[in-house]
Amino acid sequence: MTATMKALRAHRRGGPEQLVYEDAPVPYPGPGEVLVAVHAAAITFAELSWDLSWTHSDGTDRTPVIPSHEVSGTVAAVGAGVTRPTVGEEVYGLVAFDRDGAAAEYVTVPAEALAGKPRSVPHALAAALPLAALTAFQALHEYAEIKPGETVLVHGGAGGVGVYGVQLAVIAGATVIATDVGTQAPFVRNLGAGRFVDVTREQFDDVVRDVDVVLDTVGGATLERSFAALRPGGRLVTLSAPPPAGLAERYGVRASFFVVRPDSAQLGELAYLVDAGRLRPIVSRTFPVSEGRQAYESGALPRPPGKTVLIVR
Ligand SMILES: NC(=O)c1ccc[n+]([C@@H]2O[C@H](COP(=O)([O-])OP(=O)(O)OC[C@H]3O[C@@H](n4cnc5c(N)ncnc54)[C@H](OP(=O)(O)O)[C@@H]3O)[C@@H](O)[C@H]2O)c1
Repeated sequence: MTATMKALRAHRRGGPEQLVYEDAPVPYPGPGEVLVAVHAAAITFAELSWDLSWTHSDGTDRTPVIPSHEVSGTVAAVGAGVTRPTVGEEVYGLVAFDRDGAAAEYVTVPAEALAGKPRSVPHALAAALPLAALTAFQALHEYAEIKPGETVLVHGGAGGVGVYGVQLAVIAGATVIATDVGTQAPFVRNLGAGRFVDVTREQFDDVVRDVDVVLDTVGGATLERSFAALRPGGRLVTLSAPPPAGLAERYGVRASFFVVRPDSAQLGELAYLVDAGRLRPIVSRTFPVSEGRQAYESGALPRPPGKTVLIVR
């Protein structure tokens, strides 16, 4: 293996205009880490605006940085102490946002943040899963503790997280009501939502009552109005900011906010669901990694639902 690779990097904090495709050193897998030969990497449009994308965990600058924190690829080498995965295995996973991402020929990832890639789909589709599908999985199963037969309201059902929220709630045996803008109705129904509320035409809290669970990917007024849509004792999980103080007590419900974490076992379960034909990864557009800057610039709406993915190999 050569000592240099091609990578998309930013040398100064900023937006997509800072991204350059250039030579960079191949990273070395430390103890517990895996060197992944990247095939595909998914981007999160907001990541360039986050502090942790530019600094180490102690707050010091870590430019030049490599973006794109969802990866699908092949294990090229493993660091000390790693017994699984092994060299040559196809893996996918989530790279923490405070370390270099996967918009490069190689990335190092802690072994526990990877799992076997779903075999039935190409790398470009596998890369679309880790962040959004893990977020939806943890929201529904760890925070909302969803049960079969319950009714779940998913706000933003056509969004990055929402597409997996709808599908995973259906897989868990729930009835799903989804909100989004009306043009997405056929797409969201096709994912399994039994009912769709077009927020450009109706106030969801006028027509939805007594749900067991709300998965809120929108925040703001949508979050605040969601409390009235829950039954007493219901559970709300929101993703963009903690819920306003006092509302959960006033409505007699439980409300949570959390930040997604890498989880190998859960990634394994998601891969199983994909291979069983029950969970569909959704990709909006693909770009060659050499056009990574254009990919990050393509975030303006409207765009088709799903992840934007960089193709590396
Ligand atoms: N806490 C965590 O660990 C975590 C993890 C992942 C994401 N997040 C956060 O979760 C949020 C959602 O992420 P995402 O990737 O799913 O975003 P996204 O792809 O933009 O999805 C949001 C969806 O909601 C729709 N929408 C906008 N306004 C709405 C409204 N008033 N009612 C219903 N639907 C509406 C959007 O439609 P349009 O596209 O037409 O606007 C879009 O389809 C972001 O704030 C993100 O930062 C948090």
